[in-house]
Amino acid sequence: MRSPLAYNRDYALNAICPYFTMFPLEYPLRVIKKHSSENPVIVDPFCGRGTTIYAARKLGLRSYGFDTSPIAVAIAKAKLASASVERVIALAEHLLQRQPSDLPDTEFFKAAYSSDTLLDICRLREGLMLLPDESDESTLLRAAALGCLHGPLANDVSLSGYFSNQMPRTFASKPDYSVRYWKQNGLEAPHVQVLAVLRRKLERISELGSTAVGSFRRIMCADARTAAPYRNLTGRFVVVTSPPYYGMRTYVQDQWLRNWFLGGPAQVHYETDMQLRHSSHECFVHDLARVWSHLRKRAEAIDLYVRLGTIPSVKSDARALLKASLDESSGWRLVSTRRADTASAGKRQADQMGKSTPEDEFDFHAVAN
Ligand SMILES: C[S@@+](CC[C@H](N)C(=O)[O-])C[C@H]1O[C@@H](n2cnc3c(N)ncnc32)[C@H](O)[C@@H]1O
Repeated sequence: MRSPLAYNRDYALNAICPYFTMFPLEYPLRVIKKHSSENPVIVDPFCGRGTTIYAARKLGLRSYGFDTSPIAVAIAKAKLASASVERVIALAEHLLQRQPSDLPDTEFFKAAYSSDTLLDICRLREGLMLLPDESDESTLLRAAALGCLHGPLANDVSLSGYFSNQMPRTFASKPDYSVRYWKQNGLEAPHVQVLAVLRRKLERISELGSTAVGSFRRIMCADARTAAPYRNLTGRFVVVTSPPYYGMRTYVQDQWLRNWFLGGPAQVHYETDMQLRHSSHECFVHDLARVWSHLRKRAEAIDLYVRLGTIPSVKSDARALLKASLDESSGWRLVSTRRADTASAGKRQADQMGKSTPEDEFDFHAVAN
């Protein structure tokens, strides 16, 4: 069996920072390849960490992506950035010379990071926040720092891939829980060199300076239900997307530490503004229908590929929800519905949310002219 692309060095940029509920790269690569000769614009209105955007880059196609999570946008932008390791490191060295004005002093931060490491993280954080212009270098540095911000402790601290005390990579555990866990298990924050950790991550990405088609400025922090992000879109679209599964709305809360690094608060905030509504199936279907309608209005022709599933804790039928949203938007023809079969291509999205059964996740293909 071929090894999944998630572990392939030639695709390491896609793994610059993990993201909760990302879909495997094999899925967008497979469907976009079928349309490559039509030279379409690739669109993902729920782009997450930018897996679809990255697949488009690999296939030499232009792409657009939006997401309401600033963490998703920061990571997705890196999928269209291009710079040498040395240029990204030079920017990091420059930013590390500043004195930060904001150092969090909660129990969590004191136990999560050694004091020198936290100081450097805050230098980078503020330096990146205050840059007057975004560049490929700053985009890549931000995404790499987000990727190193938390993860498992290394046995050998000189080889550490993360800045933090023991934490998951894909989401940040809550502050109180983390502090309790570290105390109970006698775990201490590692003394890591921020620059060395970043360099190790960047040097693993052999394609960092490769040519990108399109611009990271096409990745926007925007609500896919509104008309604004579609304004500059026109032509033949291939949309490959995965909306939040019904009931899954804590994308920013689960990434609260990465959100802090981007300028957010130093604790978890529970508002879920701008996420699709999950208060009822009708609201969810209506929100999805708005997204499909915006896309259809802007496209000369469109193929829509959607991966949608269910999360174990919430009762829903992904097939019924998707079909109802296409009907409400109108003008769509559902071409196929298949079980998502990604056993050889990395973890299915539903697996990352808890126990799931194989019938939980589907790939839909619809067209509109
Ligand atoms: C299942 S994830 C997408 C994962 C993506 N396919 C990847 O590989 O990383 C769904 C995404 O939809 C985003 N989202 C939720 N409501 C949104 C909205 N109204 N507009 C745009 N994005 C939204 C979430 O923030 C989340 O990143």
